[in-house]
Amino acid sequence: MKVPFFTSVREYTARKKEFDTAVKTVMERGDFILGTEVMLFEKEAAQHLGVPYAVGVASGSDALVIGSDILGFRDGAEVLTPTFTFFASASCIARLGGKPIFVDMDEQTFNMDIQDASRRITSKTVGIIPVHLFLQTVPMQELMDFARSHSLKVLEDAAEAWGMESYVDGSWKKAGTIGDIGIFSFFPTKTLGAYGDAGLMVTHNEDLYKKIKSYRVHGSSVKYFHDYIGYNSRLDTLQAAILRVKLKTIQESIHSRALHAAHYTERLSKLPFIRIPKIKEVNKGVYYVYNILVPKRDELAAYLKEKNIGTSIYYPRPLHLQKCFTYLGYKEGDFPVAERVCKEILALPMYPELTDDEVDYVCDSIEAFYRSGL
Ligand SMILES: Cc1ncc(COP(=O)(O)O)c(C=O)c1O
Repeated sequence: MKVPFFTSVREYTARKKEFDTAVKTVMERGDFILGTEVMLFEKEAAQHLGVPYAVGVASGSDALVIGSDILGFRDGAEVLTPTFTFFASASCIARLGGKPIFVDMDEQTFNMDIQDASRRITSKTVGIIPVHLFLQTVPMQELMDFARSHSLKVLEDAAEAWGMESYVDGSWKKAGTIGDIGIFSFFPTKTLGAYGDAGLMVTHNEDLYKKIKSYRVHGSSVKYFHDYIGYNSRLDTLQAAILRVKLKTIQESIHSRALHAAHYTERLSKLPFIRIPKIKEVNKGVYYVYNILVPKRDELAAYLKEKNIGTSIYYPRPLHLQKCFTYLGYKEGDFPVAERVCKEILALPMYPELTDDEVDYVCDSIEAFYRSGL
C-alpha cells in the first residue's frame, strides 16, 4: 500500500467535471485579472466567515506582508509572534524593518503561550500575530483581552485555520475574523486549498478594507494614480473558480478530516509513548494537520517512508534559530518548549479522501516500528 502525505488528485478525479467546468468558464470569459470569479468568491467567503469584507490576494505570505504594512508592523516597531510557526508569520514583520519578538509555545495546543507573550512586551510593542496552527485557534478571548489592555494591533494568521472557531466576547467566531485583520492561505494542502497559490484578507473595518483593496493593486484605487506604495498581489481568477467549487463542500471535507482524526486517535492512544493531538473543549477545531509527538522521530519517519507512507515535519527548526534571524540575537535554550517540540513532532497523512484502510496501515506501521526497537 502507498499512502501519500498529501494528494489533490483523488479529489480532482472524483469531481473532475465540476473543476473542469469552473476552469473552462474562466477561459471562455477571459477575465483573468480580478475577474468575476474573484468577486464571487470574495462575496461567498465573506458570507461563510461572517465578515463584511474579504479581499483575495496572491498568497497567505503576501497577505501577511500587506497586513503588517497597513497595521504599522514596520520601521523598528516590535511585534509579538510565535517562534514555532511557518516562516511567513515573522518574515512579514522583518521584511518591513519591524522587529519580530518571538514567543514560546503551549505544548498541548501547539499555539502561542500568551503568558510568555506578556513577559516580552515593551514600550515599542505595537502588535501581535496570533497564529492558529494545525487544529485549533489560539485562545482568542485571552489574546484579545491581552491585546486590548496594551493597545496592540492584532493580525490574525489564520493561514491554516479555515473553519476553526473561537469563543470571544460572548459568541463563537470564525478564526481570522477576530483581530483587526485576518489572513488565510489557500496553499493546495490547506483545508480549503486551491490548485496553486492563493490567499485572502478579511476585516470588519471599512477603512482597512479600502486600504487592503488598494494595496493589492500597487496602492491605487484609480488606475495609474497611486495613494500608497503598494503591491501586485491579486487572487488569480482561475484559483478563485477552483476555490468556489471547494467552498461548496467544505463542511463535508472538514467532517471527513474529523473522522480520520478520530480513527488515528482511537488507534494511537493505545501507544502510551505517543502524544496525540487534542482539541481543547473551549475550541471548535479542524484537523488541518494530524501531528503526533514521538520518541525517535527521525527513525520513525524513515521507517514509514520505507513503508511508502508520507509524513512531514512542521516545523524542524524554530524561527529564533533560523540563520536569517541571527541578527535578532536569540540563542539555543531561549524557547525550550518550541525547541523540544521541533525534535519530536511528526505529521501523518490527513486529507478527506484518505481511506480507513490507509489510516489502519499507517497505525499498524507505527506500532510495528516501536515493537521492533523501542
Ligand atoms: C501559519 C502559516 N502562515 C502563513 C503561511 C503562508 O501562506 P502561503 O503559503 O499561502 O504563502 C502558511 C502556509 O503555507 C502558514 O502555514
